[in-house]
Amino acid sequence: MDLNFRIPGPTPLPPMVLSAMQRPMISHRGSQFKEFYLETLRLAREAHRTEHPVLLWPASGSAGWEASVVNLFAPGDPVLATVCGEFGQRYAEVARIFGLDVRMLEAPWGQAVTPDLLRAALEANPEVKGVFITHNETATAVTNPVAELAAVVRAHGALVLVDAVSGAGALPLEVDAWGLDFVMSGSQKAWMCPPGLMIAAIGPRAMDAVKGSGFPRFYWDFERMLQQSEQGFTPTTPALSTLYGFHAALTIMIDEGMDAVWDRHRRLGEAARRTLTEGGVELFADPAYASNTVTGFLTPEGVSTKAFNARLKEEFGVVAAGGQGPFKETMVRIGHMGWTTIGETEAAAAAAVAVAHELGSAEA
Ligand SMILES: Cc1ncc(COP(=O)(O)O)c(C=O)c1O
Repeated sequence: MDLNFRIPGPTPLPPMVLSAMQRPMISHRGSQFKEFYLETLRLAREAHRTEHPVLLWPASGSAGWEASVVNLFAPGDPVLATVCGEFGQRYAEVARIFGLDVRMLEAPWGQAVTPDLLRAALEANPEVKGVFITHNETATAVTNPVAELAAVVRAHGALVLVDAVSGAGALPLEVDAWGLDFVMSGSQKAWMCPPGLMIAAIGPRAMDAVKGSGFPRFYWDFERMLQQSEQGFTPTTPALSTLYGFHAALTIMIDEGMDAVWDRHRRLGEAARRTLTEGGVELFADPAYASNTVTGFLTPEGVSTKAFNARLKEEFGVVAAGGQGPFKETMVRIGHMGWTTIGETEAAAAAAVAVAHELGSAEA
């Protein structure tokens, strides 16, 4: 049986991506690579709506947290981490590990970070040099209002750093128009590729900040990577197969048009939420900030995530994810980003409704 693979990343791969990845290796120091790489970076800039560099590292998304800290700050620098779930917390933790002075703005899990909360936090912490924002908090299925939050940060003068791992390539994201200084993501989510690439859009204010940074660095050094990338090359061996896939995925997305891609995800999110709520399943996230790439709900009283997801898979062939942090054992998350259809998304949500009724009434 083909499984309806619905975890919020890695996501299903389009046939074009799979076949592109079967291409043979080429010399990463030759002209064929140069032409291919410059074209890939151009497409990546287009998908991010930026004219500034987008740089790629062989790595998973988490590398983006560390890369931003070691390039843009110095030990002891004050930063503000906005947190509404597990991934925001991890960004803050990485900054703490490197010795930044991390101030926290926390919203309850299921809620978004709002511009008013952020304005107040910046008034209380006027000295912060950077603000961390999670575009889409995958752990709670919440999308933060990044454009509005970025405007508040810009008015204050700090750098805007965005973790867009489960948002980029699916949810509206205008790097230049919104004034975002650093935006990072990973290839395995809405970019429809296997894990393996950390993708970072880096604006001019961030490139300036690199000059004043105070950490030693080698692999994550923005200037080194930028200098090579501008020539169509990489400072270390590139993840060639994943790059072939990324080029194919970007081609599909740019052909469709980013506005159309974002609108398709809006419809996917609405389909998931409609099917669940009409079936009587209450959603975890505040509806005003519900994510269009992932939807989460709590299991019926007394039913573990493990039992719920096992039933979903055995009975309906749906592979869903569990929760994280305090909701590890009680939340179920269904991903609907990248190479997926409304039909697959609705089928997964309908299966979740059936399992919720079956296990919920069994427990009653
Ligand atoms: C919002 C967010 N940030 C960061 C990460 C970490 O990315 P990775 O697992 O690729 O290191 C994830 C992974 O799910 C995520 O959803």
